[in-house]
Amino acid sequence: AMISKGNYRHFMLKEIHEQPIVVAQTLRTYLRRLEGELAPPPEDIDLASVRRVTIVACGTSFYAGMVAKYWFEQFARVPVDIDVASEFRYREPIMEEGGLALFISQSGETADTLAALRHARASGQKIAVVVNVPTSTMAREADLLLPTHAGPEIGVASTKAFTCQLAVLAALAASLARAKGRLSQEEERRIVRHLSEAPAAINGALAYDEAIEALAATIAPARDVLYLGRGPDYPLALEGALKLKEISYIHAEGYAAGEMKHGPIALIDDAVPVVVIAPSGPLFDKTVSNMQEVQARGGQVILISDYDGIEAAGEGCVATLTMPKVHPLIAPIVYAIPVQLLAYHVAVAKGTDVDQPRNLAKSVTVE
Ligand code: G6P
Repeated sequence: AMISKGNYRHFMLKEIHEQPIVVAQTLRTYLRRLEGELAPPPEDIDLASVRRVTIVACGTSFYAGMVAKYWFEQFARVPVDIDVASEFRYREPIMEEGGLALFISQSGETADTLAALRHARASGQKIAVVVNVPTSTMAREADLLLPTHAGPEIGVASTKAFTCQLAVLAALAASLARAKGRLSQEEERRIVRHLSEAPAAINGALAYDEAIEALAATIAPARDVLYLGRGPDYPLALEGALKLKEISYIHAEGYAAGEMKHGPIALIDDAVPVVVIAPSGPLFDKTVSNMQEVQARGGQVILISDYDGIEAAGEGCVATLTMPKVHPLIAPIVYAIPVQLLAYHVAVAKGTDVDQPRNLAKSVTVE
C-alpha cells in the first residue's frame, strides 16, 4: 500500500508521533498486561541455558543494543559483548557454547549485520534477531525472531523503529532474568507495569514538540553540539548526536557525562550547546555536577529531566525540558522523543532534506 505523510510535513515527524501507538503495538506481543506477566518468547528457545549474549548492529540499532547491554547485565546478570557489525568479524570474537548472538536491525537487510549473523551462526551461536521487516533476510535466518511492530519506516533517520527495539529488548532482558530465576513474580509484575506505562509517557514527551521547535532556532546556528548522558541513558546521548548529524549536518558528539573532563570539555565555550540527558535516579547528581562543569565554561545547557527540582537544578540553563516521571527502566524509551524532536526541528530550521539526507541510505546493503 502507498504510505502517505498524512497531515505531517515529513515522514520523520509522522513517525515520531506514531511512537505511542507502535510501541504499545509492539509491547502487546511481549507482555500480558492484564495478567502482569511476560509473554513466552514467540519461538522455543532455552533462555535458561544462555551464558553470554553477543549483540551486533549498526547505527541507531546499535545504540538500542548498547542500552540493552545494561538491561541484560543488570536484570539477568548475563555478560554481554557488543560490537558494531562492521568491526565484529574482524576482531575474531570468542564465541563459546551457550552463547546467544543477537542482531538488531530495522530493515533486516544491512549487509554488515547480515554478514555478522552468518559468522556467528558458523561459530555455533544461537541466533536471535530484532527486526522490523518480518520478511527480511535476517528474519528468515534467525532461530528466535523477535519482531518490532513499528510499521514501515520511511524517514532515513530511524525513530519509531528505535523505541520499538528498546521495548522488545527490555522485555527480552526481563524474560532472560525470569528464565535465570532472577525475577520474582512480584518483580515481573512490576516490570510489566512499568513497560506498559511507556506509551503514555511517550505521549507526554511528545507534548514538548512546540517547545522544542522554539529551541531549535538557538541550536541551528551552532557548529558543534555535545550530548551527555550516563548509564543506560549514555547511548541516548550517542543517538541524539547521531540524529542531529544525520539530518541537520551539524557536528555533534555524544559522550558519557563523566568522561567529558577527559577531552570534550576543551571544546566548550558559549557557542556550544550541550544537551544533558539526566533522568532522576542514582546517577542524577553526578550528571548534574558534570553539567555544572559545562556551565562554568559558558556552555549553553539544555537539560532534559524528570527531576522534581528541575527548575532549581537547571539554574543557568538555556532551557529545561521536564519529562514525565517514569521508572528508570523505561527512561531510555521516553528520552528518545526529545532528542528526535530536537534533531528534526533543527534540520527543518536549516532547511535540509529531512527524510532523505544527503549521502545516507535507509538500508545499507554494501559492506
Ligand atoms: C542506515 C540508516 C540508519 C540505521 C542503520 C542501520 O545507516 O540510515 O537509520 O540505523 O542503517 O539499519 P538497520 O536497518 O540495520 O537498523
